[in-house]
Amino acid sequence: MASIVIVGTQWGDEGKGKIVDFLAEHADTIVRFQGGNNAGHTVVVKDEQLILHIIPSGVLHPKKRCIIGNGVIIDPKELLIEIELLKSKGYLQDDGCLSISERAHVIMPYHKRIDIAREALKAGEQIGTTGRGIGPTYEDKAGRVGIRLVDLLEKDSFKKKLESNLKEKNTYLVSFLKEEKLKFEDIYNEYLDMGMKMREYVSDTSLIMNQDIKEGKNVLFEGAQGTFLDVDHGTYPFVTSSNTVAAQACIGAGIGPTMIDKVVGISKAYTTRVGGGPFPAELHDETGRFLRKQGDEYGATTGRPRRCGWFDAVMVRHAVRINGIERLVITKLDVLKGLDKIRICVGYDCNGEVCSEMPSSMKRLEACEPIHEEMEGWSSDMSHVREYDDLPDNAKRYIKRIEELVEARVIMVSVGSRRDETIVLENPFSN
Ligand code: GDP
Ligand code: IMO
Ligand code: MG
Repeated sequence: MASIVIVGTQWGDEGKGKIVDFLAEHADTIVRFQGGNNAGHTVVVKDEQLILHIIPSGVLHPKKRCIIGNGVIIDPKELLIEIELLKSKGYLQDDGCLSISERAHVIMPYHKRIDIAREALKAGEQIGTTGRGIGPTYEDKAGRVGIRLVDLLEKDSFKKKLESNLKEKNTYLVSFLKEEKLKFEDIYNEYLDMGMKMREYVSDTSLIMNQDIKEGKNVLFEGAQGTFLDVDHGTYPFVTSSNTVAAQACIGAGIGPTMIDKVVGISKAYTTRVGGGPFPAELHDETGRFLRKQGDEYGATTGRPRRCGWFDAVMVRHAVRINGIERLVITKLDVLKGLDKIRICVGYDCNGEVCSEMPSSMKRLEACEPIHEEMEGWSSDMSHVREYDDLPDNAKRYIKRIEELVEARVIMVSVGSRRDETIVLENPFSN
């Protein structure tokens, strides 16, 4: 038995969905613990691609328990659409397999409107949010005026909270953001109705989690976003509004730190970022375009082109430290095929000073130029490779070098988007 936390070590989109789906075969329970439908986790089974935004990526395995924890924020409309889509494709046939925390906060229409209008006001300085209302919803949670799923099930308290929130939100929307105001009647009945539709899934998921762990079940915690989008540890303010690091698995699922056995970091074999903010290893040249094309680097949620760059070992070593990662999974190694030389960012030159750690100041980080180490590339296709030893020698050297630089052990290598395109050196559930 083991409880394993999966986290992204970069700026999201590392391939967490694919790895969670792969490992879910060995898990009993799969849990999302933060974020919302800003996440886009792609899973490819046989030749069908599915993008999951809120429901854990274990849902494609029948009979696995999927939990959406209290740390997640939920857009009820989008959640119901995702449930319907999964059912129409033959998944989630047993409603008992999905449980959603009654403590999870609800993304309301004003959150989305505020998110989008605020970004529009910040011309040139946008965070580049997904426009899903994530920041404003977490603000209300911290501000103690949020609406939780449990409120949607209690007519009177929902009415009171919605009336009071709308007063404040409408003043802000109209006076500051120059938006139309929202009407109580347009929201109240629709959200009550959606609350009723979700009712069968809603419960105190912390009880289920702790019981599962007590019974010796294998639990997989599926992080969303990545370490450098964490509101405390990321490239603030170009971050999301939740804690995305491994420790959040406890808070966002309602378990204690003693319940976690392992933390597995997911790293793409290069770096990508969607949205604004500094990115020292970014490539603005032909190689950057090559990575975007070969890696099909377009956002799974918004379709935006992802910015691409070399693997940044400074970042990933930092992520290893912040998350307590001992084991690492390298994804998309196949994408590097055909490059004559491959570079790794091993430090930064910040105004003439060598930096081996990521600066907290965005001004300093913006000024950082990457210091590279160069390695030989490879040209053979590896998507059919299933044994580590069968990888091209230069690919093995690349992985070894990453292990040394980031101080973590590579336990899996992903060489394609499909479930079977995976090389396993150590199954984290089997020891
Ligand atoms: P997530 O948000 O971390 O789950 O990652 P995304 O799903 O947003 O982005 C990862 C993309 O890479 C998806 O389109 C996956 O299907 C794809 N992918 C995952 N692993 C591999 C791999 O090893 N090779 C290739 N070529 N694609 C991969
Ligand atoms: P997954 O789970 C990549 C980015 C947005 C933006 C910033 C803030 O698929 O890895 P938000 O809407 O959260 O307020 O946007 O965070 N972002 C992601 N980037 N992958 C994600 O999730 C992301 N979720 C948010 O692009 O820069
Ligand atoms: Mg994604």
